[in-house]
Amino acid sequence: MTAAPPQASTSSPADAPRFGEGALPGDVLVRARGITKRFGALTALAGVDMDIRAGEVTALLGDNGAGKTTFVKVLAGAHPASDGTLEMAGQAVRFASPKDAAEHGIATIYQELALSENLTVAENVFLGHELTRRVLGLPFLRRREMQARVAELLKTLDAHIHDTRALVGGLSGGQRQAVAISRALNLDARVVIMDEPTAALAVAETRKVLSLARRLAERGCAVVLISHNIADVFEVSDRMCVFRRGHKIAERHRSETDPDEIVSLITGAHPDARALDERLRQ
Ligand SMILES: Nc1ncnc2c1ncn2[C@@H]1O[C@H](COP(=O)(O)OP(=O)(O)OP(=O)(O)O)[C@@H](O)[C@H]1O
Ligand SMILES: [Mg+2]
Repeated sequence: MTAAPPQASTSSPADAPRFGEGALPGDVLVRARGITKRFGALTALAGVDMDIRAGEVTALLGDNGAGKTTFVKVLAGAHPASDGTLEMAGQAVRFASPKDAAEHGIATIYQELALSENLTVAENVFLGHELTRRVLGLPFLRRREMQARVAELLKTLDAHIHDTRALVGGLSGGQRQAVAISRALNLDARVVIMDEPTAALAVAETRKVLSLARRLAERGCAVVLISHNIADVFEVSDRMCVFRRGHKIAERHRSETDPDEIVSLITGAHPDARALDERLRQ
């Protein structure tokens, strides 16, 4: 494969296929092949293949600097890949920006959530996509409708936020995650990427966010979850991919592995991790 320069996606949003609509659990929503990312002399990702499936939580694990965030940034249009291909619904896609990826149904919820503290829950969910009506030629916000839609989304997520007019500045970390997820769902995201969503949360809040991830998968989304917490990953994910030094060294269904094996793959004690280290030494 040759490196291709960054360019706009191959399909415009209007004629973009509706990914995930009608998809069955287990259907591949994103097919990544040979994804490579170089930053100057550093190869942050080296030929990563991955299928991301509807109805599943796919966990990405690996030591610091293994390439997990870089991989999801390529998926989400934040980094152009140096090499490799992404396919959605059998069609090659290439995202020029996160907005471009979002228009194809891929949303990312980063740790630093990019919510506006001084706006309400409902305003945050609709930010940049407000519903309006024209009265005598002037645009007016359809606030009630937006609030009702957000209340419905929060209810389906079983998020305990009772007033969509509350300011986000007064919410807990877990509640903020719920607002960010509602925003993704409101934009019709089919693939929801969560990069260490619970790293800064207390135990009870962590449980809530993990159950949100599960709920998204049950709604038919493909969830990609980055976490360093093995217990959390085993609780919530269907599939685990372990990264090491930019390579994907293992993919396991939860039923075919156990925490000891995953830990040994992450720390480098596993024979497959050692084989990679040996190969990179040569
Ligand atoms: N914008 C960048 N410019 C240069 N190097 C980068 C950039 N982003 C990431 N890297 C490098 O790429 C490698 C992979 O980083 P990445 O952030 O993907 O790791 P990670 O697996 O998410 O780690 P962590 O668990 O610490 O978040 C690291 O060596 C990192 O320093
Ligand atoms: Mg990271």
